[in-house]
Amino acid sequence: MIGSRVLLCVTGGVAAYKAAALTSTLVQRGAIVDVIMTGEAERFIGPLTFSSLTARPVYTSLWDAPERIPHIRLVREAQVALVVPATANVIAKLAAGIADDLLTTALLAARIPVLLAPAMNDAMYRNAATQENLRRLSERGYAFVDPESGFLAERERGVGRLASEEAILAALETTLARTQSLAGKRVLITAGPTREAFDPVRFVSNPATGETGMALAREAALRGADVTLVLGPTHLDAPSGVRTLRVRSAEEMHAAALEYAAGTDLVIASAAVSDWRPETQEAQKRKKGDADLTVRMVRTPDILASIGAQKGSSFLVAFAAETENHEQNAREKLQRKHADAIAVNDVSNERGWGAQRNSLTLLWGTDGRCELGEAAKPVLAARLLDAVQELMCS
Ligand SMILES: Cc1cc2nc3c(=O)[nH]c(=O)nc-3n(C[C@H](O)[C@H](O)[C@H](O)COP(=O)(O)O)c2cc1C
Repeated sequence: MIGSRVLLCVTGGVAAYKAAALTSTLVQRGAIVDVIMTGEAERFIGPLTFSSLTARPVYTSLWDAPERIPHIRLVREAQVALVVPATANVIAKLAAGIADDLLTTALLAARIPVLLAPAMNDAMYRNAATQENLRRLSERGYAFVDPESGFLAERERGVGRLASEEAILAALETTLARTQSLAGKRVLITAGPTREAFDPVRFVSNPATGETGMALAREAALRGADVTLVLGPTHLDAPSGVRTLRVRSAEEMHAAALEYAAGTDLVIASAAVSDWRPETQEAQKRKKGDADLTVRMVRTPDILASIGAQKGSSFLVAFAAETENHEQNAREKLQRKHADAIAVNDVSNERGWGAQRNSLTLLWGTDGRCELGEAAKPVLAARLLDAVQELMCS
């Protein structure tokens, strides 16, 4: 943990005093710890305790030195944000995107992993609102160190006791390792649909939004990779911290992907590329007549096959969106395209497209198989990269 930059966020619960002991351990292990406290946390423990332990200023207000924009600076300088303890209130605010103090504003601006250790009364923890908020945050990629069951401040027993320091440190170590796990690696990701124009206002495409590829790009960047995203037409904003090249047609995607594929360590081809395009593209909008119209469709360049043919030592992950015989079709594609692994998803009845959740299975070799399960796309992206990185190391 030597030299690791940790942003410790302390909120107003009884367990706030335990955050001081944790700070001391982190400092002894060589971490550089910045502390943000909410106004309510200051009712439980003083900033002086934390500033003495860290030998650094403690941040309690958005307005102390606003010219330095502390909420942005603090999350840019840290590798991970750790919320200990996390009150029901702050969990609810994060789930709702409320930013009404330094702590919640900084966390809303965070691109770094955020690890929360909830601590509260058993009834507050079990309350449907809290459980719903925890679920929403987890779907957005926040990580948790779950509270323990035991003696609570109210002299009751139940779930809600802050996780042990040991458990928090173990989760922090894992998260820190994750933020470095692709450091120095170059990653290329293709995402989204392509549009094959017929005339200036009509095209052939599919319902892909690029969300899965964007989640993968975000996650790879978060793990320290230098990420290039070749992104087909989508209404979604490109992820920050990632070099994004916007393209429209399969031909444009092919050119951009091949330009960046050389020398990359990992290529993930998640784009839903149109396999055919209209043979001719009219310069002006084609006028409607009474007659039917036959359009000849011709093959677009096979991006995956081209990358597979010249991939060298880079690890190539393909995607297969299948409506039937999912795994059999995906395994054939894996061999045919010289990919190292393939992520297969079921898109029958438009499943997977545009939805916030998806389910994936990763296949490799003749019988390698890993079920990544059904989850929100950011969570699946992390699971997929975990599995792929393990394969890259094996
Ligand atoms: C004595 C006392 C103990 C509290 N302990 C907790 C707690 O352990 N967990 C919690 O979620 N809220 C607890 N609360 C309620 C929070 O302090 C309250 O919701 C506050 O608004 C949280 O502010 P913050 O989330 O901005 O820090 C406690 C309140 C009091 C008065």
